[in-house]
Amino acid sequence: MSEKLWQGRFEQPTDKIVEGYTASIQFDSRLYRYDIEGSIAHCRMLAECRIISHEEASRIVEGLGEIQREIERGSLVLDASQEDIHMAIEQRLMQKIGETGGKLHTARSRNDQICLDMRLYLRDVLTLTGTQLLDLELALVTLAETHLGTVLPGFTHLQHAQPVLLSHHLMAYYEMFRRDHQRFSECLKRTNVLPLGSAALAGTTFPIDMEKTAALLNFPAVVRNSLDAVSDRDYLLEFLAAAAIAMMHVSRLAEELILWSSSEFKFIDISDAFCTGSSIMPQKKNPDVPELMRGKTGRVYGNLIALLTTTKALPLAYNRDLQEDKEPVFDTADTLFATLRLLTKLLPEIEFHTERMRTMAEAGFTLATELADYLVRKGVPFRRAHHAVGQIVHHCIEGGKALHQCQLDELKGFHKAFDADVFDCLTLESAVDRRQSIGGTATVRVQQAIEEARSELAAKRTRLDG
Ligand code: ARG
Repeated sequence: MSEKLWQGRFEQPTDKIVEGYTASIQFDSRLYRYDIEGSIAHCRMLAECRIISHEEASRIVEGLGEIQREIERGSLVLDASQEDIHMAIEQRLMQKIGETGGKLHTARSRNDQICLDMRLYLRDVLTLTGTQLLDLELALVTLAETHLGTVLPGFTHLQHAQPVLLSHHLMAYYEMFRRDHQRFSECLKRTNVLPLGSAALAGTTFPIDMEKTAALLNFPAVVRNSLDAVSDRDYLLEFLAAAAIAMMHVSRLAEELILWSSSEFKFIDISDAFCTGSSIMPQKKNPDVPELMRGKTGRVYGNLIALLTTTKALPLAYNRDLQEDKEPVFDTADTLFATLRLLTKLLPEIEFHTERMRTMAEAGFTLATELADYLVRKGVPFRRAHHAVGQIVHHCIEGGKALHQCQLDELKGFHKAFDADVFDCLTLESAVDRRQSIGGTATVRVQQAIEEARSELAAKRTRLDG
């Protein structure tokens, strides 16, 4: 067992079980790249500020580069005796370049170091999430464009309500993921702040230049309070919260895909490549992919609650509890990436049964509101119109027929304002296309929404590429 870098004040070696319990290297080793990147910037800054010599800095930077290659080749063995990735790298550096390696940790602490690593990591996660959301948004808009002519029943309370365009339904999800995108971008602003230099909790006595380190690591800002800096995990919580909301959106879409692929709905078929069979029932084709998307939403919620609970009532400044921030964040990032990527791939694999959707769009008296609105246009107060149409629906249920199968005289029996032109409003097209209010389901409005989305996506793409 190698001696700990902090062994100085201890008489006994660490208990083995304690070592295992307190170590984070099993999961924080994935931060190695960020740890090294941060150390290189710190070291360059130390040299520029004449806290270490340029010669020492070059040896450290060279050593760190070699360590990165060793880790990537798998030749550096990381184990619990090294506690965490910061110690593992520092220890290896000292093995490689001797005493000079011990100068790297001047003017910093693992408390600000881990915050830096997590911020660098999260910055990459947020950038990747942005790209993935962009692909998903594009997939939705493309589908919406393809299905502009398809009508399906819109539901409230999961009961047939009014006909809507399938494109309108798909664009509703576009709106949700667009807001998610905004939330992740907002989170990036608060993540993009350099904490290094806060040291253990109070700042450092050395004449460091935090602005310099920030510039080297591309941080547009530096933290304003060292105590806050080493105990702040808001940026992680914001990410976890934004991810939980995004997964909630995914789960709603997943739920609809599951419902829609059932024999009761028969609105869609999901391609074989994205379904699985049953080990006992030969006829089964199960929508496991959307089911797992819905299911994984649970762990992403759990990760948010876990970190909120860990940080609750923690006194300032750093406490070891904060080591528990990593696994929830890593798990959420992994789950979110896998889910968004798969959802984007799944969408074009859906076959929409547009005839069936159309048939069902008329079932359940979805055009009843059209009759009421017709009467209102003839000057009847809405409440009275609503009542008359309610009676007509009742009459149709009793007689086992649809609204458009009523004779004009029959309708007149319920309200004298009905005229021959009433039948014009009893079509799906009329019901859809009359809804031209902002954000309504009328074809012109949906077309407009698609166009706007297209230009929004193009602008976002340019920003990403630029
Ligand atoms: N592994 C620790 C963590 O993840 C790094 C910071 C440790 N600081 C300390 N004073 N023990 O939080």
